[in-house]
Amino acid sequence: MMAARLSFSNITALAPMVRVGTLPMRLLALDYGADVVYCEELIDIKMAQCQRVVNEVLETVDFVAPDDRVMFRTCERERDRVVFQMGTADPERALTVAQLVEKDVAAIDVNMGCPKEYSTKGGMGAALLSDPDKIEAILKKLVTGVGIPVTCKIRILPSVEDTVSLVRRIEKTGVAAIAVHGRFKEERPRHPVHCDYIQAVSQAVSIPVIANGGSLDLVKKNGDIEEFRKATGASSVMLARAAMWNASVFNSQGPVPVERVMEEYLKYAIRYDNNAFNTKYCLCQMLRDKVESPLGKQVQAAQTNAEISNAYGLQEFYQQIQEQQQVRRDALQNGSQPDKPVMDGDVITMAVKFERREYPPQITPKMFLLEWSRKEKLEQPFYETVQRAQDRAFQSTVMVAEKKYRSSLWEKSKKFAEQAAAIVCLRVLGIPEGRIGEEDSGLVCKRKRERKVNGSAEEEISKKRHVADVQQEAETSETAVVTNGNHHKPDTPPERQKSS
Ligand SMILES: Cc1cc2nc3c(=O)[nH]c(=O)nc-3n(C[C@H](O)[C@H](O)[C@H](O)COP(=O)(O)O)c2cc1C
Repeated sequence: MMAARLSFSNITALAPMVRVGTLPMRLLALDYGADVVYCEELIDIKMAQCQRVVNEVLETVDFVAPDDRVMFRTCERERDRVVFQMGTADPERALTVAQLVEKDVAAIDVNMGCPKEYSTKGGMGAALLSDPDKIEAILKKLVTGVGIPVTCKIRILPSVEDTVSLVRRIEKTGVAAIAVHGRFKEERPRHPVHCDYIQAVSQAVSIPVIANGGSLDLVKKNGDIEEFRKATGASSVMLARAAMWNASVFNSQGPVPVERVMEEYLKYAIRYDNNAFNTKYCLCQMLRDKVESPLGKQVQAAQTNAEISNAYGLQEFYQQIQEQQQVRRDALQNGSQPDKPVMDGDVITMAVKFERREYPPQITPKMFLLEWSRKEKLEQPFYETVQRAQDRAFQSTVMVAEKKYRSSLWEKSKKFAEQAAAIVCLRVLGIPEGRIGEEDSGLVCKRKRERKVNGSAEEEISKKRHVADVQQEAETSETAVVTNGNHHKPDTPPERQKSS
């Protein structure tokens, strides 16, 4: 089932925040009532090197860098709400990254507001504001290249006219919404936000405008969010610092004491094995002026999530989670449930490899799946294959009876990736797959028996049909175009076997 497209109309969002907007904070913000949560800005070059890994212990999807660092971790709970923000100055690379993550997130955002040197010197962030042609190229590439909404986040330009003209140009690229941080790129977070600029933008475009920049002086509690929205005439509001200090600002029932908020945050950090320095950083932001208190000092001195848990009296919770995760790890490592299917979004996955030597010559799982689908009078299996940039490995998803199946392991060739997807489907459905030593299923192998029983003419016809089937399967595997996320045509039906 396809999730509904994320709407940016009349929403409250957790703003993108480096170091703050990782999974625990995003889940906490959702718990308190945020409609949409942005991840921290992730740089396209780093993301493009990442490998997508389904983490079966944590039940997350991780994007892991070559040095094993998890750059982006997400989970099913936020899939329809999380916006992936990237820093980019290159349309092609932006698209590569967007396609890498698009199945796991609800929308893609481009950061065009970061004034920090590390961003602007690479032509990213606020540097893009003075290169509208580049903005247009990146956004158009993304809008046409991914199937989920694309948005961008800007700062305001020196004049209202220039700001309005830029957002009109941005609107034409087909973006779903635009977030406006109402400060000039030279301004610091302590400067007052320019609500009049956001208002002018809101009036000038018909896509939703998300007002941002109100945390310090305007938005202190939940009720202020609506005031800020009205003051800017925007459709929606995005909060950074107010949420970082106390995420319960999203709670329409009123504020929750920060001590409880910290505890809830820490529980998510433990549950999702968040990087300890990141956990520490966020807790210190929440502690604010209490960062030098005894608790604050304990947090600052901690080096691991276990030590941070001690500071908050959550040792038992920490221990419990560790034990649960160890049980899962052991089960996975011992292979006690080797073929256990795992849901990855709407796709049923298993860790399966196609080993050619396990099947007789000319017999493949794909053929078995095709024959079974025909027998059941189902549409032919439909394969969709992607190739990842970093090692050019392939992963295929097969759609059968409106359900999707995929191997979580990547294959060296597209043909093998399709066979692996077919195996997952056959195993989940409990259908024979043609392996050597498997009980005769009467599916594909039936033809061989027929050849033996009937005379030579029949044998010849049957052989030709069989070869046609095999060739057809090989052809569709070899000739279909494979690019990131592109569909290719399903198996064209070979001549049907007449039952005799
Ligand atoms: C710790 C921190 C990290 C931030 N990182 C990002 C970022 O990764 N991407 C981005 O577009 N803006 C980033 N910002 C800016 C915020 O998203 C937001 O535009 C700014 O703080 C103004 O909103 P506020 O008044 O609600 O805080 C960051 C702000 C803070 C405080």
